[in-house]
Order: sequence, then structure tokens, then C-alpha cells
Amino acid sequence: PRTVELAVIPGDGIGPEVVAEALKVLDAVTADSDVTFAKTEYRLGAGRFLEDGEVLPEAELAEIKKADAILLGAVGGKPNDPRLAAANIERGLLLKLRFELDHYVNLRPTVVYPTVESPLRNPGEVDFVVVREGTEGPYVGNGGSIRIGTPHEIANEVSVNTAYGVERVVRFAFAQASARRKKLTLVHKTNVLVFAGKLWRRIVDEVSMEFPEVEVDYLHVDAATIFLVTDPARFDVIVTDNLFGDILTDLAGAISGGIGLAASGNINPDGTFPSMFEPVHGSAPDIAGQQKADPTAAILSVALLLTHLGLADAAGRVTAAVRQDLAARTGTRSTAEVGDSIVTLLS
Ligand code: NAD
Ligand code: IPM
Ligand code: MN
Repeated sequence: PRTVELAVIPGDGIGPEVVAEALKVLDAVTADSDVTFAKTEYRLGAGRFLEDGEVLPEAELAEIKKADAILLGAVGGKPNDPRLAAANIERGLLLKLRFELDHYVNLRPTVVYPTVESPLRNPGEVDFVVVREGTEGPYVGNGGSIRIGTPHEIANEVSVNTAYGVERVVRFAFAQASARRKKLTLVHKTNVLVFAGKLWRRIVDEVSMEFPEVEVDYLHVDAATIFLVTDPARFDVIVTDNLFGDILTDLAGAISGGIGLAASGNINPDGTFPSMFEPVHGSAPDIAGQQKADPTAAILSVALLLTHLGLADAAGRVTAAVRQDLAARTGTRSTAEVGDSIVTLLS
């Protein structure tokens, strides 16, 4: 028997609604198995901050660090809520976890399921994964403002790219490509962001020597958005920087038939820290509390979690049940009805 310590952060808005369904599926798929998930819930997010002013207390971070894995719903309030301006939940909680737990791979797969209506008329066979760098780029908070509030204000937000950081994520992406359809597309903006661009290009070229079986392609990020809409089937593995990866994966979710289907894993491949699994979407304040959210992204994030823990069989059963549910979808269903249906369809 094996016990997995799972830290659960339901978060804000639709976060708790989709996490409830994800846990239903996790419990069902591991019932009668020799793996038990010991869950500890952490009340973190905008709601917690508004109650007691805490974003991520050190003691809770220390506990979360000791878990085997983390499941997160979504955190954050209404964009531009003035009461949250002082805190910045996204930086203080979500990015803090990604940085402190060294989640240098943000793995975001996209599949266009044949039975799901994509907004693209003829998407083709779409099955790609974005390997988004998770700890560097413009996200690091290396910036500052001067002459704030004046007509002469200057705001800098510096993108940090280290050879060490780029190489480890590029190597992971090549390994993914090697195990898949053997095609890797570097997405950047080397024509304008020349310094970071040169570093990414050099590292991709160097690491590609170790993976001669992988074909390497390059696209500027603006052109990549064209092809994600006109020819998404061309992609196998996309490797890209933190910000480009953020933007491309919302687009990828949309072409797959909805952001409510897009799962992700914030992975620390070294296993030094627990990896964290979460839907790509946010807390969706516009539909929160109404049982309107699609929990599929959270449920597919559980499948990524199971795969990461070496429980490939359980992961396969979850994705198979999701595929069956997607094939049978008619009318509108509540968040809980989708979760219940997927549980019923587990083999
Ligand atoms: P969002 O992803 O929350 O919502 C964008 C749109 O997608 C909304 O119309 C929403 O209703 C819809 N949507 C999202 N998830 C859905 C689902 N499961 N089913 C059906 N529809 C869904 O993005 P936003 O509005 O830019 O952000 C809202 C808040 O969430 C902000 O505070 C933001 O910072 C935060 N956020 C958090 C995370 C995270 O915790 N990982 C990710 C993105 C945004
Ligand atoms: C995501 C989100 C986060 C990001 C925000 C909320 C910090 O948009 O997980 O995609 O930009 O990475
Ligand atoms: Mn995002």
C-alpha cells in the first residue's frame, strides 16, 4: 500500500466547484487500489486574503513543500478589484508556489477530441503539448517604476533568461518530443527580443544534437498564433518562454473547444519539490457559484497528476472516461453533473 500526501488548494471563484469534481474522480479511480490519497486542504486565495490579510503564510508554504503533489483549482478575484490591488494574489500565491517549488516545466497539452465542437471548421488531428518555461522570463518580478503617477513615469519589467533555466526546460521538451511524434517547435520573438532570442536559439540548437531524431522548427510567436488557428495539427511539442506560453495556451484551450477542457501540470522534474496540477483557466468570477463551470480541465489535471505519480493505469482510465463523456455531451449540465457522469464512465 502507498499513501500519497496531496495538498489541495481549491482557491477562489469556480476553483472550489471544479476541485470538488476532480476529487470525486480521483477518489473513484483510486478506490479498491493500493494507493490512498491523504488530502490536506489549504484555504488560500483572494477569499482568504479578504478575511485575514494572509496570502501564503510561511508555515503553510513549508507544509505544502512537504506534500507529494498539489492540486489547485484557481486563485484570484475579479480583475481590477481594488481591495486586492495591495496583495496581488497571482504573484504572492500562484507564482510564489511555482517559483519556490521550482516548477520549471509548465506542461499544457491540447487535444481536439473528435466529438467536441472546435470553433475551427476543420481542425484536423490536433494533439500537441506546450512546454512553457515556468520560473523565468518576464514573470520573475525584476522591474520597477520611477516618477510614479507623473507624465514621466517609467515602468520596467525585465525578462530574465538564464542558460541554466532555458537549457533544463528545452531538454525536457526534447525528451517529450522524442517520446511523441518527434517534432519540436521553438516559439519566440527572436527578430525583436534579440538577446533572449539568441540564448533560446543557441540552446535549442545545442540540445538538438543529443536528439537527432527530433525535427526542429521555429516560429515567431505572432506567426504561431496564425498557425494555431489555421493549421494546429502541425504541432507536436512547442517549447517557449513563460509569457508566450501563457498566451498560447489560452488560445490552445479555445481551439480545443473551450478553456474548460485545458489541463496543466507545473512540474519539478527533479522531484525535489512537489509538482502542482491545475486547470489552465482562472477563477472565472463571471460564472462563479452557479455550477456553470466545466470541471473537465480540473479532472484532466488529475490525470496529469496520476501520470506524474507513476499511476499510468489510473490516469488512462480517467482520460478514457473523459473522452466518453465528451462524446455523449448534450444540452447544458451542471458542474457536478459532468463530474458525476465521468465517475460513472470510469472503467
Ligand atoms: P478566466 O480563465 O477565469 O476566465 C476567462 C473566461 O473563461 C470567462 O468568461 C470564464 O467564465 C471562462 N471560463 C473559465 N474557466 C471556465 C470553465 N471551467 N468552464 C467554463 N467557462 C470557463 O480568466 P480571467 O477572467 O482573466 O481571470 C479571472 C481571475 O482568475 C483573475 O483574478 C486571474 O488573475 C485569475 N487567474 C488565475 C489562474 C490560476 O489560478 N491558475 C489562471 C488564470 C487566471
Ligand atoms: C495561468 C495564469 C497565471 C499565469 C496567472 C494567474 C499568474 O494565467 O496559469 O495561465 O500567467 O501563469
Ligand atoms: Mn494564463
